[in-house]
Amino acid sequence: MKAIVYERYGPPDVLQLKEVEKPTPKDNEVLIKIHATTVTSGDWRARSLNVPPGFGLMSRLFFGVSRPRQPILGTELAGEIEAVGKDVSKFKVGDQVFAFSGAAMGCYAEYKCMPEDGPVAPKPPNLTYEEAAALSFGGTTALNFFRRGKLQSGEKVLINGASGGVGTAAVQLARHFGAEATGVCSGANVELVRSLGAAHIIDYTKEDFTRNGETYDIIVDTVGSAPFSRSEQSLKDGGRLLLVLGGLSGLLLVPWVAMTSSKKVIAGPAAERAEDLRILAELAKAGEFRPVIDRRYPFEQIVEAHRYVDTGRKRGNVVVTVMNR
Ligand SMILES: NC(=O)c1ccc[n+]([C@@H]2O[C@H](COP(=O)([O-])OP(=O)(O)OC[C@H]3O[C@@H](n4cnc5c(N)ncnc54)[C@H](OP(=O)(O)O)[C@@H]3O)[C@@H](O)[C@H]2O)c1
Repeated sequence: MKAIVYERYGPPDVLQLKEVEKPTPKDNEVLIKIHATTVTSGDWRARSLNVPPGFGLMSRLFFGVSRPRQPILGTELAGEIEAVGKDVSKFKVGDQVFAFSGAAMGCYAEYKCMPEDGPVAPKPPNLTYEEAAALSFGGTTALNFFRRGKLQSGEKVLINGASGGVGTAAVQLARHFGAEATGVCSGANVELVRSLGAAHIIDYTKEDFTRNGETYDIIVDTVGSAPFSRSEQSLKDGGRLLLVLGGLSGLLLVPWVAMTSSKKVIAGPAAERAEDLRILAELAKAGEFRPVIDRRYPFEQIVEAHRYVDTGRKRGNVVVTVMNR
């Protein structure tokens, strides 16, 4: 099968289209013929090893010290089940599914095996393969942080970086959970973020939300520009700062803030839960959550897709069509 392979860390050109062995499903696995995958900020980090301050060594230990341990990037996919292992009972050949391989990656390929009990779920019928492929990365991250932050209906939530992959999911999910969302984005993305359900918008090129006197129950920082030192005054008593992007210092601050303040910092990687895919699929089916697609690229142009994601300016998600049909 064809796959996009990287054998060293570096710029988008390290990605190469290659012929690799097609996987065979184990007894408990399904083999998915991939129709669409995505290029996420996670792929950019794993490819370039451009990681938040303090995580350099840890990320090399995780991804591979001198070269990538997993040569096929890609955390999200949507496609059709082509074969099933002998013990599989939840899926059958021909089922349309989407999946989130997360840190195991491997979705930049024509085929991928996933355990039937893993993060794989039926594709919502009202979503295209491209949309379904983009359900998981931002969606599971936002769900996980809101769960850890104990988001309640009626709370005021500010999302810094509301136009990104995680931000566009967080705005929609905050609205779904009955919170009042404020999105922080640039002027060009105001209409997009409003259309996702943000009740208020702050254009970060004109206004600094940490200095306008407003306070929130939850602040979600997906940009890295709102550490606790800057956003503490913008949190209500009992408020929670969700550091989707934070360096090692943010993580180390968690116990200190818990001991010394009524406020909380929540940081670290989002846990990957198979159940979250089913939640996102239900929300998508009900029209409560729809991934924002910025650009689409064919498989052969994945280097271009990475170049675009590297700019840090994407709006929502960038999808890659693996099969032309
Ligand atoms: N902790 C975890 O488990 C976890 C999980 C997923 C992602 N992450 C991290 O979270 C971060 C965000 O991920 P993502 O996928 O959402 O990234 P992304 O889609 O690449 O974010 C791009 C967006 O950020 C906006 N942006 C850039 N600078 C901004 C600023 N100063 N203020 C407000 N918005 C700004 C851009 O809008 P403009 O062009 O208008 O500025 C653009 O729409 C990444 O660093 C990623 O590594 C962490």
